[in-house]
Amino acid sequence: MSKTANVAVVGATGAVGETMLAILAERKFPIGKLHVLASERSAGGTVEFNGRDITVQDLATFDPTGVDIALFSAGGSVSKEYAPKFAAAGAVVIDNSSAFRYDDDVPLVVSEVNPEQVKHRPRGIIANPNCSTMQMLVALAPIHRKAGIERINVATYQSVSGGGRSALEELGRQTGALLNFQDPDPQRFPVQIAFNLIPHIDEFLDNGFTKEEMKLVWETRKILGDDSIQVNPTAVRVPVFYGHSEAVNVETKVKLSVAEARALLENAPGVEVVDDHAPGGYPTPVTHASGTDPVYVGRIREDLSHPRGLNLWIVADNIRKGAALNAVQLAELVAKNG
Ligand code: A2P
Repeated sequence: MSKTANVAVVGATGAVGETMLAILAERKFPIGKLHVLASERSAGGTVEFNGRDITVQDLATFDPTGVDIALFSAGGSVSKEYAPKFAAAGAVVIDNSSAFRYDDDVPLVVSEVNPEQVKHRPRGIIANPNCSTMQMLVALAPIHRKAGIERINVATYQSVSGGGRSALEELGRQTGALLNFQDPDPQRFPVQIAFNLIPHIDEFLDNGFTKEEMKLVWETRKILGDDSIQVNPTAVRVPVFYGHSEAVNVETKVKLSVAEARALLENAPGVEVVDDHAPGGYPTPVTHASGTDPVYVGRIREDLSHPRGLNLWIVADNIRKGAALNAVQLAELVAKNG
């Protein structure tokens, strides 16, 4: 690869795709040619990159020859069909969908946790983890390294932007409708999301958990390289536009005090500790995460019910660190390593 890389963003008109473009520009990623791709419906329209309008091309008819790095965020079925074609044409694909995450020959990488894994990509594909796993592991990896995590209990509070542009629009539309005494008319979500909570994200599996919940189990083990870690997840959609929150309880092999955990987290890359025992002295999606890069950790407490338990409140922008930012960070690692 030369000093610049030819980059394709697949799904460039979507919530994650447009943020990938913004972050590539913000971080001055050394781009040669930039291709922005979406479905036939958007082809011929434009998206903004660095103050310029770039014409959207139809993925179905695009020739990937000459693309060095392709960032995919157009859903699993698009990735399954097109990512191998881009890889066969010589591109390194960084895929935000769950299409390849659990394949042994596809690395699953959080840039602060297992960056060395980007080099082992026999299929030319690197998977970007699920947003909830991403922010949880940025915070938990340093604790795991120091004290050995045996078990994680996690309840997520996930914003609607994780469901893409249509989900953002549905929360806005329903909020307006309900404030005007009209029917919320659920379309994108199975039940009303405005002024409500939905304990269901992605499909239900045979074990009664949702796929979103099992992603936390499967991806935590793969990224930390430890199949013995037990994870007990509940994933909930909340009426927040941007920013996922997680109430996390970890049981470690070695006891960690609050002071020790805080010191580890304060030195962890990508983490910002916000933990004052005062009103507002904790991170929230709106006041901290939305539009920013760090994974925020607050409410650090020793578990009253377990000798080696620790409670954490972990908040991050799911579209940035949870998706687009990590994808661009992986692209930077690929570009650096040639
Ligand atoms: P389009 O705008 O043309 O539908 P979101 O997750 O915010 O809904 O965004 C999904 C992204 O994936 C959009 O950019 C969307 O493009 C793109 N996309 C969806 N289906 C296809 C497809 N079959 N081929 C290419 N891009 C697709």
